[in-house]
Amino acid sequence: MDILIKNGTVVTSKEIKQADILVSKDKIDSIKPCGSFHEEVCLKVIDASNMLVMPGGVDVHTHLDMPFMGTKSTDDFRTGTIAAAMGGTTSIVDYVIPNKHESLKKAVNKWHKKAVDKAVIDYGFHVALVPPVDKILREFDYLVEAGITSVKCFLAYKNSLMLSDADLYRVFTKAAEHKLLVCVHAENGEIIDYLTKKYLKEGRKEPVCHADSRPPELEDEAVSRVIKISKLTETPVYFAHLSSKGGIKEIKRAKKNKQKVFAETCPQYMTFNQHKYLSEDFEAAKYVMSPPLRKYKHSSYIKKSLKDGIIDVVATDHCPFNFNKEKQRGIRDFTRIPNGIPGIETRMPVMFNEMIVKMGMCLSKFVEVNCAKPAKIFGLSQKGDIKPGKDADIVLWNPDIIWKIKNKNLHENVDYSAFEDYVVTGKPVTIISRGEIIVENGELKAEPGRGLYINRQISNSAYS
Ligand code: URP
Ligand code: ZN
Repeated sequence: MDILIKNGTVVTSKEIKQADILVSKDKIDSIKPCGSFHEEVCLKVIDASNMLVMPGGVDVHTHLDMPFMGTKSTDDFRTGTIAAAMGGTTSIVDYVIPNKHESLKKAVNKWHKKAVDKAVIDYGFHVALVPPVDKILREFDYLVEAGITSVKCFLAYKNSLMLSDADLYRVFTKAAEHKLLVCVHAENGEIIDYLTKKYLKEGRKEPVCHADSRPPELEDEAVSRVIKISKLTETPVYFAHLSSKGGIKEIKRAKKNKQKVFAETCPQYMTFNQHKYLSEDFEAAKYVMSPPLRKYKHSSYIKKSLKDGIIDVVATDHCPFNFNKEKQRGIRDFTRIPNGIPGIETRMPVMFNEMIVKMGMCLSKFVEVNCAKPAKIFGLSQKGDIKPGKDADIVLWNPDIIWKIKNKNLHENVDYSAFEDYVVTGKPVTIISRGEIIVENGELKAEPGRGLYINRQISNSAYS
């Protein structure tokens, strides 16, 4: 046998127990009570006493090497996946964003080229559907064959990514035929566009206008509209990066009515509030993202909803831009600040601190929303669990280390962290991906290109 992890506290989304884990090649072989296995026959023995042994994190919302708003996100698949690994994440699902009129196949091939020699952890793809949709709707068979079982519709970013309601209806109808899960960026792009132009006309150019032009009601409205289209077309839907109390209340109602609706939020919407936009200088640009940060009542409701099971997934929406470079494009015009913040390396530690240390939630809940459910919802059948036969993607977590997030110590390729000086209790120390130790006691061991493409299955959470 290749690796024995002994004396750890094994945490899955279902249970917590003291156990030893035997890893054979790239898979979990067996899990037995501590002391059951013969150490002599193992190539490597890891003593996980006083450690939590959890499935590797699954981040289903990333934007690596993505052309966006006249520039490009600064992490590629090498730096982005190294950062992910160092933060305890062993799988990502990145968004392929095709150009207008580009075939989905061509766009997917482009993304494969970006990833193949660079990734250090396993990766899958979603594909965004940009208008016009007529031709690309005919490529859904290809997507399923290519292991891409989810698509994304943007209701914001008018005149670039935004789809009309009619297109949305068409996508939903077609997606249901192919059992694709539709992910939605839910904000009302028409009104955002109107408010943006209005502010510019009034001479308002500062970063806070980004938030003012995208009030929470516009998210609430879009969520409600999409839930109705989802019901009408009998198509399951996944809401990306939810930030508003009203939007989440709509989801709660839909879930109660037994609609197949899934909800994602991100660490930033739980930990920060709109006051980040009030700094006098341009620092606020560091927090320009869509949807924007909200008032306290929204972040506190998100936390409650995570606890209550209304929110299914925590992902990052990792979309980094340097403050001193790309973000400066918008110094005289908030509409030119590229939208997005980094977070791929800090998601698991920040969420551990928020969920376990501050809110006292169960460790299994942490694993559920950060590993198990994202894997299940998006058809990563080998990921997100510690069970014989699954990929040996395992994180050894020291729950007692207290540390402060400093961008200079992170591996994200960006000149700031939105979480600078955030104090965390608990740290991932050793990371195993498909039976290979890729981080050992905080030191990277993996070579770029070792990460494999994940051929995803149809979501059986959505289409059971
Ligand atoms: O601000 C964000 N979220 N940028 C990335 C693109 C998106 O909207 O997800
Ligand atoms: Zn995104």
